[in-house]
Amino acid sequence: MTILPILQLKTMTMLPILHLILLSLIIHQTTSFSSAAIDPTQGFTHVSLDNSNFVIQKPYNVPVNQRYNFTNGVHQFWIYPTDKPFLSGSNTKPRTEIRISKHEYTSGIWQFEGYGYVPSGTSGVCIMQVFGGRSTATTTQLRIYDGSLTYYNSPHVLSQNIYNRWFKVNAIHDVDANNVKIYIDGVLKRDGAGLGAGTHYFKFGVYVQNDHSNRMESLWKDIKVFKK
Ligand SMILES: *[C@@H]1O[C@H](CO)[C@@H](O)[C@H](O)[C@H]1NC(C)=O
Repeated sequence: MTILPILQLKTMTMLPILHLILLSLIIHQTTSFSSAAIDPTQGFTHVSLDNSNFVIQKPYNVPVNQRYNFTNGVHQFWIYPTDKPFLSGSNTKPRTEIRISKHEYTSGIWQFEGYGYVPSGTSGVCIMQVFGGRSTATTTQLRIYDGSLTYYNSPHVLSQNIYNRWFKVNAIHDVDANNVKIYIDGVLKRDGAGLGAGTHYFKFGVYVQNDHSNRMESLWKDIKVFKK
C-alpha cells in the first residue's frame, strides 16, 4: 500500500522530463524535414535543348570569346561596367548572357534548372532572369550582392556565402497563378507572386546592376528546362 504512492510520485516527476525529450525529438525532426533537399523537377516534363536554343548576348563591339568561354560543358560569362550594351543604340546595362530561345511561353508552368558558380569579388549583378512581366522587363531576377544570392535587390537573401561553390538553381514559374518558386540546392527559398503575365523566357550569365564590382563573372552548367 505504501509502494504505489511512491511509484506515482516518481512517474509524475518523470513526466515533464519525458515531455522535454519528446518535444526536442519532434522539433529536431520537423527542422530536418523542412530543410531536406528535394527534386523540384518531379512531375515535370523535360524540354530538350540544343545549341540553337542558346543565344548569346554580349557587348556589341567585342568578339564573343572576349566575354564568354564554353569549355567542358561549363559556360563562363564576364562583363565590365564600362562595356557597351548588347545592341548598338540600346540604353540597357552591359551584359553577357544566354537567352533560352524558341521556348518563349505565355502560360503554363515552366521550370529552369542549372548549376551556378560565382567567384568572390563579383557583386551588383544579375545572374539569372525569368524574363517578361505585365509592365516590367522581368518577373524574377537572381542577383549577387556582397557574397549573397538575392531576389532582385530586396533584403530577401536566398543564400548567404554563395561565392566559390557550385549551387543548384530551380526556378518554377506558374504564369496563370502568377507564382514563382526559387529552390537553391533543392531547398525552397522563395515562394511568392511574380510580376504578371507577358512573353517569358529564361536567361543566365551576368547583367550589370547597382553597386557593381569592377568585374562581374558567373559560370553555369547542366542547364535544363521543364514544363507542366
Ligand atoms: C576557357 O576556359 C578554360 C577552362 O578554364 C581555359 O583553359 C581556357 O584558357 C579558356 N579560354 C579562353 C579563350 O579564355
